[in-house]
Amino acid sequence: MSHGHRRPIVAGNWKMNGTQEQAVTITRDLLKGFHATPQIEVVLFPPFTVLQKVGELLRASSISLGAQNIHWESKGAFTGEISAAMLKELGCKVAIVGHSERRQFFGETDATVRKRLKATLEAGLNGILCVGETLQQRQQGKTWEIIETQLQAALEGIEPLTAKAQLIVAYEPVWAIGTGQNATSVQAQEVHEKIRRWLAGRFGQAAADAIRIQYGGSVKAENAAELMAQPDVDGALVGGASLEPKGFLSIIESTVQTKEAGCSTHSS
Ligand code: PGA
Repeated sequence: MSHGHRRPIVAGNWKMNGTQEQAVTITRDLLKGFHATPQIEVVLFPPFTVLQKVGELLRASSISLGAQNIHWESKGAFTGEISAAMLKELGCKVAIVGHSERRQFFGETDATVRKRLKATLEAGLNGILCVGETLQQRQQGKTWEIIETQLQAALEGIEPLTAKAQLIVAYEPVWAIGTGQNATSVQAQEVHEKIRRWLAGRFGQAAADAIRIQYGGSVKAENAAELMAQPDVDGALVGGASLEPKGFLSIIESTVQTKEAGCSTHSS
């Protein structure tokens, strides 16, 4: 399948890492080595406490700012939560929804994932919907069943591509997150292709061809090119390696180069 029309997206999810000082250092180092090109979209997801600071540093660049989580209500008595309006005020353009760590440790369910995603897109923010199976589920041969359930529940009643916001899907096998053990490019492509086929059945082929599907789970400089060479892998959601500007820059560069090479092969 041609992927020339999908702009790859590389995202850096800092998780619960980054004091003010560390955030400034990482962002400055990243900006020093970053060469903006229209061939790629880069987004950083620092913790809420440094969104403002990182946002200020990114303002003059083409790297955008995103939030690791988002609440579905716009305001009110929801202790510990942050709304789309608040995030937009800080310059956020994207939100991650349903990350496996939220599902595993903070009681996130398919139902709350759907509410968060709906609010995200309706507020005009792009939403990265994370899906993925655990090791046990994979070993039991339930990978696709789990992912299909997650997609179905999260995307119920959702318009994935509108004039103001886009859905992005991140396939993140739970067993590959933070473990150093990435999915092989073949394993990733297999699931990405199924996700795209599912999206086509649900939203039509044109939408499925336009929706970006990122891979996440132990992406690093050493394995990025191989993963990005897969036709249905449209970028990476990077955790640990995004805290190291050099490594993150090299993931960005491999993505640009691999996708450009892929495009010329497709068009020739
Ligand atoms: P990792 O995390 O790159 O540290 O495996 C990926 C993620 O959780 O998005």
